[in-house]
Amino acid sequence: MNICMIGAGYVGLVTGACLAESGNEVICVDIDAKKISLLKRGEVPIYEPGLETLIKRNVKEKRLTFTTDLAKGVKNSLIIFIAVGTPPKQDGSSNLDHVFEAAGGIGN
Ligand SMILES: NC(=O)c1ccc[n+]([C@@H]2O[C@H](COP(=O)([O-])OP(=O)(O)OC[C@H]3O[C@@H](n4cnc5c(N)ncnc54)[C@H](O)[C@@H]3O)[C@@H](O)[C@H]2O)c1
Repeated sequence: MNICMIGAGYVGLVTGACLAESGNEVICVDIDAKKISLLKRGEVPIYEPGLETLIKRNVKEKRLTFTTDLAKGVKNSLIIFIAVGTPPKQDGSSNLDHVFEAAGGIGN
């Protein structure tokens, strides 16, 4: 199954890599171009035990790819996950700006 993961942070990258490991074709989209180029070069920007091995294997087997191009990710996918950051606001509630931005991008 083709899956798009929007947000390649702690949640999105780990979930995307695990979904690829279980046989899906996963495209991870992030607005952070630096992070995407690191990942394309096989470098993992965060530490999670076993993650680097999972990413390397699935990139090599072409089940896991990375892009900053949201349209490319969305057009080719049956399921789209939004895993962008929701930092706390001063009043303690979550800032959902990134979620709305990602959802708007999917709609477009
Ligand atoms: N990290 C955790 O342990 C954890 C646990 C439970 C829930 N969560 C929740 O999961 C969500 C993601 O958290 P995280 O820790 O993975 O965040 P993170 O900051 O590690 O990653 C978020 C990623 O989203 C990217 N991003 C932001 N806006 C984007 C957009 N419009 N399009 C594409 N990419 C975009 C950022 O560049 C970043 O790489 C949050 O709602 C968080 O509260 C996280």
